[in-house]
Amino acid sequence: MLVRPTSQTSVLPDGIDLRSGALEDEHLPLEDVGILVYCASMGFGHVPRVMDQLQAAGVKRGVFVSTTAIFTHLTAASRAPRLEAEAAVQGSTLDWTIVRPTMIYGTARDRNISRLLQFIARWPLFPLCGNALWQPIYVEDLADAVVTALDTPATVRRVYNLAGAYPLRFDDLVRTAARTLFRRVILVRVPVSAAVLAARVTRVVSVEQVRRLAEDKAFDYSDATRDFGFHPRSFAEGVRLEARSLGL
Ligand SMILES: NC(=O)c1ccc[n+]([C@@H]2O[C@H](COP(=O)([O-])OP(=O)(O)OC[C@H]3O[C@@H](n4cnc5c(N)ncnc54)[C@H](OP(=O)(O)O)[C@@H]3O)[C@@H](O)[C@H]2O)c1
Repeated sequence: MLVRPTSQTSVLPDGIDLRSGALEDEHLPLEDVGILVYCASMGFGHVPRVMDQLQAAGVKRGVFVSTTAIFTHLTAASRAPRLEAEAAVQGSTLDWTIVRPTMIYGTARDRNISRLLQFIARWPLFPLCGNALWQPIYVEDLADAVVTALDTPATVRRVYNLAGAYPLRFDDLVRTAARTLFRRVILVRVPVSAAVLAARVTRVVSVEQVRRLAEDKAFDYSDATRDFGFHPRSFAEGVRLEARSLGL
């Protein structure tokens, strides 16, 4: 596993071969690497150069974790490098598979549902901006999918969208999370235009983040079910596991 000096290696299980480096390095420590799982963001601009190194080092097989965020209709700065990264993978000589998860949740270290649960545990009101469709994926379902795809020849040179079992509207998602905690939550609807204005003034979140909140994020994953038996959990089940792991 590639780790940086700042990486939190204490969260990793024992017995992993840790190699020091960073994606911007000219020479990645790729000796004896035959198979690769690329799970750093593909939006940093490193992927085309990394692909050159992987091919030169004779790496044969790779699963690359992209994101369904590339389907956004907003003008997101990260979209172009992500598309360029996917194109570099697809143009390589590796036996590649690209998986594109939706929002990933399931541990205290996620930056989304853990915060939602902590908020609901504390406050009786919840501000609801828009009411888009969401379909987050539980982290272990994604991890299982990556491992299974790696072992399934039918996934070579294919791209898969990966999501939770079914989409739900944001109000339903918040109520489902609240039910898990046995909390009653009052939803306060905030017009998207007001939230955009607040984002501009306060700069606590970006305007793009607010607009993304209001954008539908539901994705078909039937190709993954057909090719490697992907059967993800529902949000109700995943959020229950996450609440338990957070001790809530
Ligand atoms: N989080 C989501 O909701 C979400 C949604 C859709 C898709 N994805 C995709 O899923 C993948 C994992 O997401 P994540 O949220 O876990 O990502 P993350 O927290 O941003 O980073 C994942 C790993 O990338 C490593 N990394 C970042 N820059 C690096 C560099 N220059 N050199 C070497 N390693 C570097 C980090 O290493 P350190 O440990 O050293 O920081 C970290 O362990 C990414 O491809 C992301 O785009 C995430």
